[in-house]
Amino acid sequence: MGSGNTVAVFGAYGHTGRFVVAELRDRGFVPVASGRDADKLRALAESEPGLDTRPASVDDPASLDRALAGAVAVINCAGPFALTAAPVIEAALRAGIPYVDVAAEIEANLDTFTHFTDRARAEGAVIVPAMAFYGGLGDLLATAAMGDWTTADEAHIAYGLSGWHPTAGTRAAGDVSRSRRGGRRVRYAGGRLEYRDDTAPTLEWPFPDPMGTRTVIGEFTMADVVTVPSHLSVPEVRTYMTTEAARELAAPDTPAPAAVDEHGRSAQTFLVDVVVRSGGIERRAVARGQDIYAVTAPLAVEAVHRILTGQTRTVGVASAGAIFDAPEFLKALSGRLSTELPGRG
Ligand SMILES: NC(=O)c1ccc[n+]([C@@H]2O[C@H](COP(=O)([O-])OP(=O)(O)OC[C@H]3O[C@@H](n4cnc5c(N)ncnc54)[C@H](OP(=O)(O)O)[C@@H]3O)[C@@H](O)[C@H]2O)c1
Repeated sequence: MGSGNTVAVFGAYGHTGRFVVAELRDRGFVPVASGRDADKLRALAESEPGLDTRPASVDDPASLDRALAGAVAVINCAGPFALTAAPVIEAALRAGIPYVDVAAEIEANLDTFTHFTDRARAEGAVIVPAMAFYGGLGDLLATAAMGDWTTADEAHIAYGLSGWHPTAGTRAAGDVSRSRRGGRRVRYAGGRLEYRDDTAPTLEWPFPDPMGTRTVIGEFTMADVVTVPSHLSVPEVRTYMTTEAARELAAPDTPAPAAVDEHGRSAQTFLVDVVVRSGGIERRAVARGQDIYAVTAPLAVEAVHRILTGQTRTVGVASAGAIFDAPEFLKALSGRLSTELPGRG
C-alpha cells in the first residue's frame, strides 16, 4: 500500500518511533530512521535489518535536510515537541513534504498552529500535529460523533485506561508542559484555554459496558482541547482520565510499558468515550483497543497514506478531524481499533 515510498521518522528509536517504523514497513513504505543519537540508530538498525539510518539534530538544519532527502513525508516522534516540532517542520517545508507528529503537548501543538498556519497554507503544505492517541483519536471520534452538526454546546472525551505505564518521553513532555504553565493546570472553557490554580475535579463517568461507571479526574486536559476547537465550533471541550491511570502517570516509580505480545504491545487497554451535546441532544462515539503508544503508529501512518493519496479536505496546519473524513479514517483502522459511531453501529 505504501508503494515503496520513503518516509522519514524522526525519533525513530524511541518507544513510539519503533512502532511507527514497524507500521511503515508493514504497510509497504520504506522507513528512514532518524534521531539525534547515532549509536541508538545503529542499535535499531541491528534489530531492523536493511533499515536506512540518518543521524540528525534539531540544532543542525543541514542534518535534518539530509534525513529528509528523498522522503515523501516525515513523521516526528521525538518529544518534547516544544524542542523538536518547529525545526522538523521547517525541514519538511524546505523539502516540500508533508509533516505529521504525535505531540501530546497542548502548548507545543498550539505553537504549531500559531507559527505555521499562514505559511503552510500559502505554500500548499500539509502539517498534521497530534496525529496520535491523544489529540488525534479524540478529534476523529468527536468529529464523527458530530455528524452533520457544525456546532455543539459541549464535547466530552473520557479516557478509560486500564492503567498507564508512561515512557520517558511522556514524562519529559509532561515536565516541559508543566513548566510552561508555571505549575498551573489548564482547561478549555468558554471557547478558550483557561489556566487555573485550583484542583481538578473528581467525578463519576458512565463508560459504556463492560467498563461501566468509573471514577475519573475531570479537566485532565489533553491535546484534544487544541485539535477539536481548531475546526469545530464547540466552546466547552473537556477531557477526563480514569483515576488509576492518572495515579500511575503521576507516580515516579511506575515502570515503563512492557511488551506482552508479538507486536510489542503492552497489556494496557483503553476505551475512549466521546459525547457531544447540542441543544439537549447527545451523540456518542466510542473506540476500544490495546496500548495507547502502539495504536499511535497506525494513526500516524494512516494519516501519511491519506495525505499521499489525496484523501484530504484541506491544506495548511490541520488536525486529524479537519483534514480527514473521520468515519472513513476510523473504519480504515478497524483491525486495530473497534469503534462505535452514530448511525454505524
Ligand atoms: N499524542 C499521543 O497520544 C502520543 C503517543 C505516543 C507518544 N507521544 C509523545 O511522543 C513523544 C515520544 O514518546 P515515546 O513514548 O516514544 O518516548 P521515548 O521512548 O522516551 O522516546 C523519546 C524520543 O524522543 C527523542 N528526543 C527527545 N528529545 C529530543 C531532542 N531534543 N532532539 C531529538 N530527539 C529527541 C529521544 O531521543 P534520545 O533517546 O536521543 O533522547 C527518543 O527517540 C513524547 O513526547 C510523547 O508524549 C504522544
